Amino acid sequence: MSEPKRDRPLAAIVLAAGQGKRMGAAVPKVLIETCGWAMVEHVLEAAAPLGAHPTVIVYGHGGESVRAALAGRDLLFAEQPEQRGTGHAVQCGLPALGLFDGDVVILCGDTPLLSHEVLRTLVDDHRASGRTLSVLSADLDDPGSLGRVVRGPDGEFVAIREAADASADELALREINTGVIVVDARALGAALHALRPDNQQGELYLTDVPEILLEGVSDAQDGEGPRVGVVRCDDPGAALGVNRPAELLEATAQLRRRLLERHAAAGVIIEDPATTVVDAGVEIGAGTTLRPFTSIAKGARIGKNCTLGPHVAVGPGSTLADRVRVGAHSELRGVTIEAGVRILGPARLVGAVIGSGAWLSPGVVSEGSADGRIVIGERAHIGAGAVLVAPLTVGAEARVGQGKVVTHDVGAPASTENSKHA
Ligand code: UD1
Ligand code: CA
Repeated sequence: MSEPKRDRPLAAIVLAAGQGKRMGAAVPKVLIETCGWAMVEHVLEAAAPLGAHPTVIVYGHGGESVRAALAGRDLLFAEQPEQRGTGHAVQCGLPALGLFDGDVVILCGDTPLLSHEVLRTLVDDHRASGRTLSVLSADLDDPGSLGRVVRGPDGEFVAIREAADASADELALREINTGVIVVDARALGAALHALRPDNQQGELYLTDVPEILLEGVSDAQDGEGPRVGVVRCDDPGAALGVNRPAELLEATAQLRRRLLERHAAAGVIIEDPATTVVDAGVEIGAGTTLRPFTSIAKGARIGKNCTLGPHVAVGPGSTLADRVRVGAHSELRGVTIEAGVRILGPARLVGAVIGSGAWLSPGVVSEGSADGRIVIGERAHIGAGAVLVAPLTVGAEARVGQGKVVTHDVGAPASTENSKHA
């Protein structure tokens, strides 16, 4: 038995160079969005709590858009000029780690369902066991084109066999390679040299590395040979690599459900999960009710005890404080709404800041923008069907009469009915 290696440094390599021809999209596959984030962003989010440092993104030829999409994060980038397989992608990414001595977790950028819990289990098990390499596997009823985990008579790991190269017996196996591997960096470096494209797809397979280690191509370390094992997870989502639009649909359905379940666990009331869409990276306070056909875009923050919907769309850049009510058929984008604001539907509010306790009657339209905002003061009252044209400030407790088209500031507490601007 090898020594546990709990404190070893951990780095990550994310394979994101595939073009995703089967997706038929104009952008590199890993940038295709689901639940508001690019697939590779979901993977990075799942990996973040591992604290792997550095994290290298392997991007493809012409994949500068991948770099651009992930700019500003603490990442290293390595180019894989041609896609010659997952093993080749790791060959391209590993040098970016320099003289790193520790374990490397290798992830695929097209597995948006990968969860933090599963990664944690894998890394903890790997470290506690002292193995050189650990493969994350899962059992699937329909393993399709995924790589199969081949085990020996005592259940010990033998190899990962790609479906294209598998025998009929191997194809019948239901335990698959999720595509996540943790491996000692030095052993990985040595094994990568031994990869050969002698397979049906003519590629350099990362999945040959475990077998190569077992064959002892890499030198024995710590006085004993490399040890390779499998950590089985019970989350089939971990293995759902999105290669085709149908798989994206499946991943999105599962991800949506998971996000809603997380909010429900945190005390959000979701009246109709089938028609409620909450993107990743949204905060919602406890006691808030989402009525049917409500969608909340990434980055939005919703306070406690709000009621939104039915048929409300909260767009990017929106912040709602506690006890805000937004009625039926309303669209909010780039708004900051303070506590206790009441917005009766339908409303269309863009680029607005609304003070606490303000009241908006049905049919209010505000058209603000980045350089021209609408500011509505505390406890202001906006009449039905009013149109507010930016830039514009409605003072605290001011009233805007119904049906008004307001193009100038409205002071408090005079009514626009008497104002020269109205
Ligand atoms: C891979 C595994 C398979 C596993 C499956 C899980 C190999 C050979 N096979 O198969 O055992 O069951 O993932 O989803 O590893 N990529 C590059 N450069 C390349 C090729 C791929 O960066 O040259 C990236 C892709 O962008 C993708 C990931 O590697 O993010 C996986 O590649 P993909 O072609 O989807 O591999 P699979 O055939 O799904
Ligand atoms: Ca895949």
